[in-house]
Amino acid sequence: MDQPVVPTDNAAAFSQRHDDVFARIASRYDRLCDIFSLGIHRIWKSAMATRMSAHLNESVLDVASGTGDIPLRLLRRGHRPEALRVTDICPQMLAIAERKLAPAGGRLQFALCDAEDLKEIGDQTFDVYSISFAMKICDRKRVIDEAFRVLKPGGRFYCLEAARIRFALLHAAYLAYMDWCMPLIGRLAADGDASAYVYLLRGVHQFPDQDSFATELRQAGFSSVFYTNFSLGIVALHEATKPHHTKEVEWQSIGSA
Ligand SMILES: C[S@@+](CC[C@H](N)C(=O)[O-])C[C@H]1O[C@@H](n2cnc3c(N)ncnc32)[C@H](O)[C@@H]1O
Repeated sequence: MDQPVVPTDNAAAFSQRHDDVFARIASRYDRLCDIFSLGIHRIWKSAMATRMSAHLNESVLDVASGTGDIPLRLLRRGHRPEALRVTDICPQMLAIAERKLAPAGGRLQFALCDAEDLKEIGDQTFDVYSISFAMKICDRKRVIDEAFRVLKPGGRFYCLEAARIRFALLHAAYLAYMDWCMPLIGRLAADGDASAYVYLLRGVHQFPDQDSFATELRQAGFSSVFYTNFSLGIVALHEATKPHHTKEVEWQSIGSA
């Protein structure tokens, strides 16, 4: 694996340009998720989709969709296919998402997109933005800024990601367990391809805790930021709103009157 140029806000120091790990493991990705999380990723993703199902008739952009687990769960909850854009930087992952979501009909929108640079998407295009288990392998600042740009005022942001267990000792024990078992399971399940678990482990270690990530979202301009811990905080779902600028301007003018 080439040593990537490490972007400062990329917890896993991952770069698709330097290591196309997801292209190599695409056909095994779903199995790896089940093995690494003992199947619990399904519960976390379903919980995220349930929260997002408050927006059934709104337009959704899911970035770094992988094999389409979040879109799949949104469709199961009655989301309209034509209002859902499924995207990823990796053609092999997106191809699997297309196959998995095919029964939903031909109206779903699929596109190759870089979450750090959504140049194909205009400002204020979507009501809802979602990203799951990819923020830690991207440059967070760039991804968050792009999410803010493509959301309409009042739009909602959802991010499911590795987090920190509240009890320090328990978190240390969890990390020790991950450090011990991930290389073992990873090598067996990924046919000796170390990249998958190297990035995952690095990302789990380096991703900011829930409050720090919430602060990053506020600094990018989001309001009503809050998070929900799942499984004691092994992962967390962050939610945020892009404010209505008109309201902000009104408040500013009232404040300065
Ligand atoms: C760990 S998988 C998560 C997939 C899916 N969201 C899930 O929860 O199972 C990370 C995905 O992010 C994609 N990815 C990595 N860097 C990306 C980028 N800059 N823009 C868009 N997708 C990216 C990878 O190709 C991969 O499909």
